[in-house]
Amino acid sequence: MVTSQLPEGPQNLSLLNKLQQTVKPLEFLETCARRYGDIFTIPVLLGPSKQSMVIISNPQGIQEIFRTDPEKLDAGGNGARLPFVGEQSILALSGDRHQRQRKLLTPPFHGQRMIAYGELIREIIEKVTSQWTTDKPFPIRSSTQRISFQVILKAVFGLEEGQRLQEIDRLLTLRFEGQKSIFRSILLVFPALQKDWGPSSPWGRLMQNQRDIDKLIYAEIAERHENPDPTRTDILSLMMAARDEEGQPMTDVELRDELITLLIAGHETTATSLAWAFYWCHRQPEVLEKLLQELDALGNSPAPMEIFKLPYLDAVCKETLRIYPVALLAMQRQVKSPLEIMGYQFEPGIFLSPCIYLTHHREDLYPQPKQFRPKRFLERQYSPYEYMPFGGGNRRCIGMAFALFEMKLVLATILSSWELALADKKPVKAVRRGLLMAPSDGVRMVVKGKRTPVKIPSDSHEKSLATTL
Ligand code: HEM
Repeated sequence: MVTSQLPEGPQNLSLLNKLQQTVKPLEFLETCARRYGDIFTIPVLLGPSKQSMVIISNPQGIQEIFRTDPEKLDAGGNGARLPFVGEQSILALSGDRHQRQRKLLTPPFHGQRMIAYGELIREIIEKVTSQWTTDKPFPIRSSTQRISFQVILKAVFGLEEGQRLQEIDRLLTLRFEGQKSIFRSILLVFPALQKDWGPSSPWGRLMQNQRDIDKLIYAEIAERHENPDPTRTDILSLMMAARDEEGQPMTDVELRDELITLLIAGHETTATSLAWAFYWCHRQPEVLEKLLQELDALGNSPAPMEIFKLPYLDAVCKETLRIYPVALLAMQRQVKSPLEIMGYQFEPGIFLSPCIYLTHHREDLYPQPKQFRPKRFLERQYSPYEYMPFGGGNRRCIGMAFALFEMKLVLATILSSWELALADKKPVKAVRRGLLMAPSDGVRMVVKGKRTPVKIPSDSHEKSLATTL
């Protein structure tokens, strides 16, 4: 039977509930799921009052959402809430224009092109870890953040060592460091506060920073137009060479907006996921031991693709992204024309959001979901509606393969050559950091020293993995 009523849910949230929804989203979602099940309605916190969002953690329902024609249900229109990315960003677009941008942006992130960044990523890891000092606690997230940030600047923007790279690095660091403050987060969320009252006002400073960054990006684009170099393999060059179905290239404004989008969507997500991976590997020594056995069996300087294919490393990355997916929810999709999902009739205007976190914590799919058990991914295959740290359908993360490649390379390179330990015994909590869920203290670790890989003949390793996994 189809009902035109919205699914049940907490309609009149008290101030305390709203605070919990913002500050402790995991507890809020879990409380709602216990009370209302795997589909419930909550009021949209920000934005026009009386708007509703339906949260779904039922694989069948998620499949229906991901498979619905974007003409009827789509994300996009988020540009207004993400002022820095710009109106031409793939995040802000929907319909045909979104499809066009996806077609232009997707190829550089796949296949041989992606593998070509392996050496560059390794050089960046080497540079960042060479700054480490032994026995001094530090948040591993600061290192993973430094690595993923440099990867974007060099592999995506294609910047080479020099003044422009240093200047963009400085300005962007200023921008993202400031974003950690509560005040800056509030400023970004409430459009009413976004007033440029000169260079010393908070919004004015932010706008000036943005203009300075844009100036450098447009200078880089202009230089590439003047001196085209077909041998370049960075993502900006590939985006500049791409043509749509009418043979048209991306405009300079589109290029700028996509570069900033890739930076925002790509670096904090990967850095945070990596910090969690280091945490779990060291929190559960048996996981680290199995992983090191697998890595050591590859011998010295394995090819990046060999690392990418390792089954246990793959399972560790998957389990890391399952237990605390950095994005709790996939992008909210707005109903454009009447739609039936899971027996409910949804009218235009309603937002539907697949809940990655609650789906990843379903007991029927993931027994003992609060336990970190990479093995579950070796025992069972999950459908894209049961496991979806990168979302799905027409909005699935275009950086998915790239992020997994980078995560595996960073973990494999650092774990096989350094001995690390957690600085604190107490468990690390997941807290909101901007739009993402991140480890509360960035995962404090200590460097014990360099590690010498143990020599293991590869066939005996395979046998031992087969018996122990
Ligand atoms: C571990 C790292 C990452 C995670 C967990 C992640 C997760 C996600 C999620 C959940 C979405 C929304 C999908 C949906 O609503 O269905 C998304 C979208 C997106 N991601 Fe990622 N992402 C990661 C890394 C990256 C990287 C490295 C890049 C590029 C450099 C990137 C670029 C994008 C873009 C452009 C979109 C928007 C796609 C669209 O609107 O069509 N992401 N990502």
